[in-house]
Amino acid sequence: MSDLDNINSSFKQKFNSIKSKDELQNLKTEFFGKSGKITNEFKSLGSVEADKRKEFASSLNKLKDSLTSQLEKKYLEFETLEVNEKLKDEKLDVTLPTRSFQSGKIHPVSQVIDEISSIFSEIGFSVAEGPDVETEYNNFTALNTPENHPARDMHDTFYLEENKKILLRTHTSPVQIRTMLNEKPPFKIIVPGRTYRCDSDQTHAPMFHQLEGLHIDKNITMSHLKGCLDYFIKEFFEVKNIKMRFRPSHFPFTEPSAEVDIGYRIENGRIVIGEGDKWLEILGCGMVHPNVLRNVKVDPEKYQGFAFGMGIDRLAMLKYGINDLRAFFENDYRWLTHFGFDPLDVPTNYRGLSK
Ligand code: PHE
Repeated sequence: MSDLDNINSSFKQKFNSIKSKDELQNLKTEFFGKSGKITNEFKSLGSVEADKRKEFASSLNKLKDSLTSQLEKKYLEFETLEVNEKLKDEKLDVTLPTRSFQSGKIHPVSQVIDEISSIFSEIGFSVAEGPDVETEYNNFTALNTPENHPARDMHDTFYLEENKKILLRTHTSPVQIRTMLNEKPPFKIIVPGRTYRCDSDQTHAPMFHQLEGLHIDKNITMSHLKGCLDYFIKEFFEVKNIKMRFRPSHFPFTEPSAEVDIGYRIENGRIVIGEGDKWLEILGCGMVHPNVLRNVKVDPEKYQGFAFGMGIDRLAMLKYGINDLRAFFENDYRWLTHFGFDPLDVPTNYRGLSK
């Protein structure tokens, strides 16, 4: 056997029993270090007889290449093993049960406000807001409800001072006034918000929520109002057909005025909205009274339009089968867990409102 064959077989023997990166490093030094076996062979090249030198050099180079590539391959194997070992320790067990924390829920009233805003934004309404504490002027006088008007009593107002100039708003209609005073026509807004009346039973709470709608432009008619409400009710209750009727009514700030009822029936103890021979009142509406427009310096000869107001809590009760309004405001966590909504399921028209 030649020297090179010896080197090769001794390398093979040692190489096959290597168990760690360190051992590999030692082997590398043994053959390729300063006085390594291969290094020495290279050093001895000069003393090889001239006619054999070329052949010897070529075999030596081949051996060198073969050994280095084996060493490199083994090195990579150890590297991969090490990484895998590390990953095993870092493994994330996705089957671990979550820690028991109580996740929050969206209150049905907030959910319904989001749903309503989403539905109306689709047809060009923007959301306006106003304060809960209002002036008597914005809440009544500007809305064509002068002092001593009987409608003021119907509202069971909470006054905040003796001379009755400041109050808790009894409806969201004062935001009509605020918006029209601060901006220029056309107006196309909805106003969700808290409202207050001195009243409390299973279907009335002293604080409740209303949704106001106002659309003022040139040539807006009662049929726009009807189309708008028809669209809204269908979208909101997620039904294709809805029986709806307009009943003549009276509000000081609209003329003509109407109350809107929708058809329903009871099926297996549950309410089915949209069809049936029973009627449910859900909102008040009408064409904005010219006096209201004059009060906010809008010319009723040029601009006109409609307004409506509805109870948000009532809508939430109907849609989600909740039968006691008072539960809305008791902050009972068990009730919220049952009737509340997932915070990440934000209602949108394209993804769905409540599903
Ligand atoms: N503000 C009225 C109420 O609270 C509802 C309403 C709003 C009626 C707008 C007509 C137009 O009863």
